[in-house]
Amino acid sequence: MTVLVVTGTGTEIGKTVTTAAVAAVAVRAGRSVAVLKPAQTGVAPGDPGDVDDVVRLAGDRVTPVELGRYPEPLAPGTAAARAGLPPVRPAQIAEAAQKLAASHDLVLVEGAGGLLVHFDAEGSTLADAARLLDAPVLVVARAGLGTLNSVQLTAEALRSRGLRHSGVVIGSWPREPDLAERCNVADLPRVAGVGLAGAIPAGAGTLTPQEFRAGAARWLGPALGGVWDAETFTAAEGPPAFG
Ligand SMILES: Nc1ncnc2c1ncn2[C@@H]1O[C@H](COP(=O)(O)OP(=O)(O)OP(=O)(O)O)[C@@H](O)[C@H]1O
Ligand SMILES: [Mg+2]
Repeated sequence: MTVLVVTGTGTEIGKTVTTAAVAAVAVRAGRSVAVLKPAQTGVAPGDPGDVDDVVRLAGDRVTPVELGRYPEPLAPGTAAARAGLPPVRPAQIAEAAQKLAASHDLVLVEGAGGLLVHFDAEGSTLADAARLLDAPVLVVARAGLGTLNSVQLTAEALRSRGLRHSGVVIGSWPREPDLAERCNVADLPRVAGVGLAGAIPAGAGTLTPQEFRAGAARWLGPALGGVWDAETFTAAEGPPAFG
């Protein structure tokens, strides 16, 4: 796997923190990594974007690339139209990712918001880019009540487009999970039709970069280069006995 598309069930789910963890583990393993954020919204020129967060957490051996940035915190297509700026098209995303893949062992493509967010006025999405790249898609999800529906909708959208679902990562796993969060550990793989690929502890994004890099392998399963084990996690953190 050279290109991995990282989407989420929405915005502010933990895509960037997850992307940083995957990058950190790969860097530690001696792999060269690039992170591509096709469209960064809600930032002024010169402001740090998601790729800068990834570099801060995973290290400056990660190559950061943005294709477009727009000042208003909106879906990229809307933000581009309102700013009178050209949108980022799926073909550009695919071309940029392929170019990076020629010189890196791993290219992480972080979407904006969820899978079907529009990048342009025609309604192109990250899924279109993933299809052009024939790349697997990792889905970052919330832990709590409401996440099952969003995760199943995302899985169905991927499958109906012929895309490969490479697993679900819980973007922020609380220190003291409530009943819904614990039950979701067992239900998420069922509704996704694919296993859990990791769980990032709440607060990971605010660790020092050294702590983050040292911890990342324990948050991600083997498919993402880590040592996190879904079965062990489910036994420890999953559904409690009834009542
Ligand atoms: N595991 C975590 N530990 C600490 N903070 C987290 C964690 N997950 C998410 N956050 C925080 O929640 C916010 C949203 O996370 P993040 O930026 O990763 O979301 P996102 O899905 O990438 O959002 P966007 O759609 O804007 O790209 C950030 O302020 C981030 O620091
Ligand atoms: Mg992000």
